[in-house]
Amino acid sequence: MKRKNVVLVGFMGTGKSSVGHLLAKRLAWPFLDIDHLIELQEGISIPDLFGSKGEDYFRRVESQVIHKVMEQDKQVIATGGGAVLAEDNRNKMLKNGYVIALSARKETIIARVKLDHNRPLLQGNVDERVGILLEHRKHAYDFADLKIDTTELTKDTIVEMIINGMEALD
Ligand code: S3P
Repeated sequence: MKRKNVVLVGFMGTGKSSVGHLLAKRLAWPFLDIDHLIELQEGISIPDLFGSKGEDYFRRVESQVIHKVMEQDKQVIATGGGAVLAEDNRNKMLKNGYVIALSARKETIIARVKLDHNRPLLQGNVDERVGILLEHRKHAYDFADLKIDTTELTKDTIVEMIINGMEALD
């Protein structure tokens, strides 16, 4: 394998963390969640970090953590939905990993994120916020090596597709 990590990117609610956990188990690689590492490093939850220091600060820490994590090999890495907005992050991900973009239908995303209040960018009218952000980020995930629409797929199928894709990409 030429590029050693698997990096999951995609909009909020597309299944990056749950697929990542299962894939890591299958590959017997560690699973790393960038948001979780940010929370550990900063000693504060993501919503509180956004609230106290703002999104720009969060994005700076996010980039730092991504760059650090990408120095290691053989890890499954789930990134936050906005991690791909910085070109520098995208380049790092492509250089040191297979980048897999997960997507889902808007209605599916809304249903998945509705019950979770840990997403500062979705506060207020969730349907409206998801619609606006999806439109803004329409092409944000196009740079990935492989794209998978998870709407109708089980986690096991998605993991199979990623493993097959990794072999084909080599
Ligand atoms: C964000 C997505 C979140 C988290 C933060 C910002 C985004 O991660 O990083 O709330 O900009 O899309 P998930 O995609 O895991 O929800």
